[in-house]
Amino acid sequence: MKIRKVTAAYFSPAGSTGDVTEMIASAIGKVYSVPVEIDDFTLPVSRETKRRYGPDELLVFGTPTYAGRVPNKILPFLRDSFLGNQTPAICCVTFGNRAFDSSLAELWTTVRNGGFLPFAGAACVSRHVFSDKIAPGRPDDRDRKILIDLAEKAAARLQEAGEAQELSAPDSLAGKLRVGPYYTPLGTDGNPAKFLAAKPKTEEERCTRCGRCARVCPMGIIPEDDPVRAEGTCIKCQACVLACPEHAKYFDDLAFLSHVEMLERTYTRNAKTEVYIGTSDAGRKAGGAG
Ligand SMILES: Cc1cc2nc3c(=O)[nH]c(=O)nc-3n(C[C@H](O)[C@H](O)[C@H](O)COP(=O)(O)O)c2cc1C
Repeated sequence: MKIRKVTAAYFSPAGSTGDVTEMIASAIGKVYSVPVEIDDFTLPVSRETKRRYGPDELLVFGTPTYAGRVPNKILPFLRDSFLGNQTPAICCVTFGNRAFDSSLAELWTTVRNGGFLPFAGAACVSRHVFSDKIAPGRPDDRDRKILIDLAEKAAARLQEAGEAQELSAPDSLAGKLRVGPYYTPLGTDGNPAKFLAAKPKTEEERCTRCGRCARVCPMGIIPEDDPVRAEGTCIKCQACVLACPEHAKYFDDLAFLSHVEMLERTYTRNAKTEVYIGTSDAGRKAGGAG
């Protein structure tokens, strides 16, 4: 089938999800020799309009895993503002070496309900934004190779398919599309670590009021004219901490710090990047694997 345009649409406060989603989109754009559009909906201003797509476009969706799911503050926007019309889609989540649990299933079912036809997916290990000790250097060359290979297979599936309706979900994902409960963060004592109300603090002597933290906050809760404050719901994405050139932003919530320490102690093994790819009916008839 013909694809006129590829769009990488993602939420990525700390950048890993954006990199991974763009990598997949541009590899497919290259195969098709079509433009790749970037739709970064991380900032509140970028979430004010609805998007509509046709059957001759490809969407590559990307979100991080938060508590084993799609970030809950972003889910309503994904559900209500991305409107496909039999539009082929690839779903991509990143996760910080613990587990992606239900995030891929939730992204997949959400865009499918919005009129898209997801036929390939990836769950890519990325450095955990809570600690540079968890999955440092991920995604690495091996992860990237796995993702590029998925992108090339996805492009081949699209080329085999006569029309979008022929694309099917991978058999390997069939049993995994149920969305389970949110993961409960634990502390070092093994008990739930409750840090929903935690917000970034500011070392005022370091802060130069440059406003960079305010401009990267996906929840818009840091006032640009008074960036030492944070008012409203913080999603703990760490964008402000990472963006501050003076290292003035930090979290000192004890439950949060205990959870980070538990993650550092427990999730030291290298988790695997997983990919899923479905077949077109033509591919299935030709013996293509699920
Ligand atoms: C609030 C929050 C919850 C997270 N929950 C999980 C999780 O359940 N499992 C996991 O492996 N990583 C988890 N992570 C790590 C992120 O999924 C990972 O760092 C991701 O790549 C961040 O994406 P970004 O760089 O695009 O912002 C969480 C991160 C945050 C901020």
